[in-house]
Amino acid sequence: MNVQQSNFSANSLEAHWMPFTGNRDFKADPRLLVRSEGVYSWDHNGNKIIDASSGLFCVAAGHGRPEIADAVHQALLTNDYTAPFQVGQPTSFSLAQKVANILPEPINHVFFTNSGSESIDTALKICMAYHRAKGDGQRTRFVSRERAYHGVNIGGVSLSGMVKNRETFSGVMPNVVMMRHTWREDNKFKRGQPENGGVELANDLERMVQTYGGSTIAACFVEPVAGSTGCLVPPKGYLERLREICDQHGILLVFDEVICGFGRLGAPFAAQAFNVTPDLMTLAKALTNGCQPMGAVAVKDDIYETVTSASPDNAIEFFHGYTYSGHPAACAAGLATQEIYERENLFQRAADLSEYFLDAVWSLQDLDIVTDIRGIGLMAGVDVAMDGAPGVRGTRVQKALFHSGCHIKFTGDCGIIAPPLVSEEVHIDEMVEKLRATLVKEMEG
Ligand SMILES: Cc1ncc(COP(=O)(O)O)c(C=O)c1O
Repeated sequence: MNVQQSNFSANSLEAHWMPFTGNRDFKADPRLLVRSEGVYSWDHNGNKIIDASSGLFCVAAGHGRPEIADAVHQALLTNDYTAPFQVGQPTSFSLAQKVANILPEPINHVFFTNSGSESIDTALKICMAYHRAKGDGQRTRFVSRERAYHGVNIGGVSLSGMVKNRETFSGVMPNVVMMRHTWREDNKFKRGQPENGGVELANDLERMVQTYGGSTIAACFVEPVAGSTGCLVPPKGYLERLREICDQHGILLVFDEVICGFGRLGAPFAAQAFNVTPDLMTLAKALTNGCQPMGAVAVKDDIYETVTSASPDNAIEFFHGYTYSGHPAACAAGLATQEIYERENLFQRAADLSEYFLDAVWSLQDLDIVTDIRGIGLMAGVDVAMDGAPGVRGTRVQKALFHSGCHIKFTGDCGIIAPPLVSEEVHIDEMVEKLRATLVKEMEG
């Protein structure tokens, strides 16, 4: 890019090593957003781009909400930073209570982190601390799933079922075993929860119990809908069966709701959408509408009480926390965001828009290049046929789509559409029309 031609003030793009990005490729053909409002952003050349993935599944209430910006501004002017260990500040308690109000019972305690990845590592440690406090410290094994994405810290990578995210990083946590993923050929193009295989796939956990012993397993981590891998909706009966097996063997069930949480499925959380209550939930992204880095782990009363009552009086009960846990600016953003969700009834709005959205996405199934579509609520995965190595076509389509005015997050050859919950039907039409046009061009070569 000739930076002189834009309103971009850096002299070079080289210093910033970008995350999950082909750096060389990006720097030769940059895709820079400089302004965002509602469901649109504008790039450095002035092109308007519709945001069909809510950024990275964060911006549920739409971009540029002044209520959130004002709340963060006020927080920084009033009380910019408070040490969060052995001292506190009021807004973290308010936000924890506000989130607890919409969590399923009896999940009423919230530990703050700064990202989804930190939430996963925190949840792993809470599981260990809980079992140890109960005198069950031999439970050291964790169960995860193929194609899982649980962030990028060492704990999350150990639970990861996506090969590129883990193959370079040998020596990740031992004692993690994998269930099969939930994609099945015979469920292709099924909308909502597929019919086939739910109980059979969940019985993988029972096989882990039979192989390793239920009393050695600390927890089973799943994304209720596997998001980053391409929106794999759990088949009917799957989550219920996992819950049953966990209950039989004292295994904690953890739902990673980093994407599903805060209305994406038309309910506050996937736990309510599927009517299955886990023991712990990991949260992030739409907690603050993406406006401040923040995550959280929500736990059942029994977990909080067991861990906090296992230590002597005056002792720290859980040796874990971050310098920025419950940061005032993040809490202000979180509170303002939650107020918007409430005031604008956005979770219900997502539920109401879901049929229209899924109809629109399913209209793409006539294209030969589309090999599968899955979706629920306001989230869908569209698989495109591979062209050579995995991900080559997905990356090409994602870039072409951006240049035609639409942002969709691709993982490999799957585009994951997750519009902001404030989207209107015309926005859904625009997203899907742009995707169709780009796919048709791709097919024509
Ligand atoms: C299910 C899930 N868990 C964890 C994470 C990690 O979150 P973060 O990128 O905020 O660390 C993500 C991110 O996409 C996610 O989708």
